[in-house]
Amino acid sequence: MSFSAVPCSHAVPSPFVWKSSFQVFYDNLDAEHQGLFDGIRKLKEDSGKSSQKSNLEHLIQILDEHFKDEEMMMKKKNFYDHDSHKKTHDDFLSVMRKVTPAQVNDKLFEHASTWLVSHIMDTDMKYKGEI
Ligand SMILES: [Fe+2]
Ligand SMILES: [Fe+2]
Repeated sequence: MSFSAVPCSHAVPSPFVWKSSFQVFYDNLDAEHQGLFDGIRKLKEDSGKSSQKSNLEHLIQILDEHFKDEEMMMKKKNFYDHDSHKKTHDDFLSVMRKVTPAQVNDKLFEHASTWLVSHIMDTDMKYKGEI
């Protein structure tokens, strides 16, 4: 599998650390987003290390939990964008679930980091104040 950066019109922090401009103002979701930045950054930091298998497993688990939390909050409020938002979650998760530790490289890091920034800024931000 080859990976590429997602078109992203927003600055991608380097090092890859959450910052307040990504705030969606729901404490649980902001905390989860911080964890996702940490989980993705770890893939870069641990380049070539045997810890990538558990790093990937951890990242998939926290992505899954975070996506379920957002979807549940949107569903509760009958938020109009729930279905298409969920689809972008499902698509990203299905790509990430197929990644093997040997496939973790800079391209994958770039893909995941640009996906997360553009997703938060262009998709998550739509529910700000609405759910
Ligand atoms: Fe999110
Ligand atoms: Fe989302």
